[in-house]
Amino acid sequence: MIRRLSIADVQAGVNLARPVYNQRGTLVIPVGTQLNEGHLRRLAESGVREVFINDPTIPDVPAHEPISEATKAFAVEVIRDLFDRAAAGSLKGGLGSFYDKVSQVVKEIQDDLASQRGRVIHPVVEVDGEDYLVAHSLSVTILSMAVARQGNFAPKVFDIGLGALLHDLGMITVPPDLRHKPEPLSPEERNLVARHPQEGLKLIEQTPVISAFTKVVVLQHHERASGNGYPKGLKLKDIYPLARLVAIVDVFSTLLADRPHPERYTPQRAMDYVVSCAGFDFDLDLTQDFAQRVAPYPVGTLITLSTGERGVVVDVKDGVVTRPVVRLFTDQSGAATGKYKDVNLSLPEHRTTMIVGSGQA
Ligand SMILES: [Fe+2]
Repeated sequence: MIRRLSIADVQAGVNLARPVYNQRGTLVIPVGTQLNEGHLRRLAESGVREVFINDPTIPDVPAHEPISEATKAFAVEVIRDLFDRAAAGSLKGGLGSFYDKVSQVVKEIQDDLASQRGRVIHPVVEVDGEDYLVAHSLSVTILSMAVARQGNFAPKVFDIGLGALLHDLGMITVPPDLRHKPEPLSPEERNLVARHPQEGLKLIEQTPVISAFTKVVVLQHHERASGNGYPKGLKLKDIYPLARLVAIVDVFSTLLADRPHPERYTPQRAMDYVVSCAGFDFDLDLTQDFAQRVAPYPVGTLITLSTGERGVVVDVKDGVVTRPVVRLFTDQSGAATGKYKDVNLSLPEHRTTMIVGSGQA
């Protein structure tokens, strides 16, 4: 199975499952390479923090992404083009005819989601080698729509998807070095970043076909129920419900993203964080709804059980997202057995077995 490994844990002899690029996009080591001590030194010098390796001791689990590769490739291309146009200043009069492309992306994601069986949402959307804003916009779009289509927001799933896709468009007015700055921002820098919802709204205001629902998502996605958000510091009842949902998804997706700061969270840790803000920064009911449907241990997650056994998640059942089906590949000492055994943690006989560790596979 392909799994993600932090550079600190990589040892000589492992086989690269994906090529390694440095931050300038230059190939450091090609796919399929069996790493030796020289490669490890080169990796350490390159500033790369994670690699993907083939681990033959872990069973292969089919990818479980919410949209097809074709939809993802089309979406990435259009969102990248959208940000490029915004950066070049060509959206001053609104989205114009480019709106058709952007709305087509949202419709294709909607179709892909509609063809899914079950209600469980797998939150991880891998977009390799792409600018953070592009990858983040896509993952917030997919996750917002996946949650919205199942509840009271279902009639507005297109509006929320378009709002999520456009939510950070105004970040294009923030200089790139500030957008990627790992250190805490100065008050002036924070003010500049805090203008991005209004700047985003300005870029789409002149597009009459974009609904008020979508526009309010862009404007209010950083408002917080506590009144601690921006740009207006609105309280819960004054924040439009669609924007409340995108606020939750935005924070959750940010924590899952591969960025220098903060460190990448597992879905389970990101969910803990979001739930801890429920009733304060986030709408309590919407957060609970979110936590019941989004898998904190998505298919492919490596799991350690309280018995000492290790396994990989192969299924997540509706209504019991915190108790997945785990394919065990070790014994209780953690040694690989060469045989697999599936354990459905949602069954009563496993109720005393706890998940004590999880990581991205
Ligand atoms: Fe934002």
